[in-house]
Amino acid sequence: MYRCKATCRAHANIAFVKYWGVVDSNLNLPANGSLSMTLSHAHSTTTVAWMDVDPTGEADIVVIDGKEQSGSAHRRTVSHLDRIRTAMGVPWPARVESRNSFPASAGIASSASGFCALTVAACQALAAGGRRDIPDRRHQARLARRASGSACRSFQGGFVEWSAGGDDATSVACQVAGPDHWPLHDVVAVLDAGPKSVSSHDGHRLAATSPLQEERVRQVQSHLNTARSAIRARDLKSLGEISERDAMLMHAVMMSSEPPLLFLNEGSVALMRQIRDWRLQEGLEVYFTVDAGPNLHVLCNEADVGEVSHRLARWPSVQDILVNGPGPAPELRNSPLF
Ligand code: PMV
Repeated sequence: MYRCKATCRAHANIAFVKYWGVVDSNLNLPANGSLSMTLSHAHSTTTVAWMDVDPTGEADIVVIDGKEQSGSAHRRTVSHLDRIRTAMGVPWPARVESRNSFPASAGIASSASGFCALTVAACQALAAGGRRDIPDRRHQARLARRASGSACRSFQGGFVEWSAGGDDATSVACQVAGPDHWPLHDVVAVLDAGPKSVSSHDGHRLAATSPLQEERVRQVQSHLNTARSAIRARDLKSLGEISERDAMLMHAVMMSSEPPLLFLNEGSVALMRQIRDWRLQEGLEVYFTVDAGPNLHVLCNEADVGEVSHRLARWPSVQDILVNGPGPAPELRNSPLF
């Protein structure tokens, strides 16, 4: 039987300056700071129910997009539930159901929205069950960071900077500007909706093997300064240029790791060239960024969303497009998934 349950919807985010590499894999302290926009239409809705301890030793049940999980997604979720159980001193198993509004595990940061929603729902369920000492959102974000670094950025709406920090208490994300500050858009061009071969969780551990990682970490501070100022000034040119540069540098690190990681496919590279041509030859103000997957995030002004979506939808290797503006902070919901 369920003791208590709660539901949260949390939004994914796209980083303009990327987090790549960890200096402490237990606490998930990143090698560098990062800066992102929370996405309005890419979200995970998660219900967590804490159950009575079963004398037969029933384990946690994890259902994602209607499918009961048994492999690595189950393990990562259970590890995170263990973190929450330890923090809260509860012994109970949980049932977790989550639904994504976009393809999971395809470099669209489902781990960010997923672990953010899981943490908020798990803590809220304990509050609904009568616990008074549940951690505040700031503390919840630190817990979620340990499951997926980028999840700590999803605790805020709008434009968010995660300072690398030096320990658990200082590696935190803060809002740079709210969702209403600037209707910047991210049109995601889905080129491959399948799961990627190497998770970013594993990729972070390889970053230090690249001879380029040290140089990238050195440059990131100036990328962050440029991106932060561009957001404050609503300057797409400056934000777009630094986003492309930072993404390219991150992929150079990935490609030069041992073993090398190649997340881009032929379609990603062809579309990158096309986006530059649209900008440089036709004057359409579009820029790309790309995470640990082949799908491109195309940054543009609100006024160009129709034109950009139209062009991307007609591009041969694009399977789907997802249009996002700046999204909100996590929200509690009254409609549980079970
Ligand atoms: O939070 P993780 O472990 O899923 O890593 C995210 C890594 C990138 O998406 C490539 C970059 C970022 O800052 O979101």
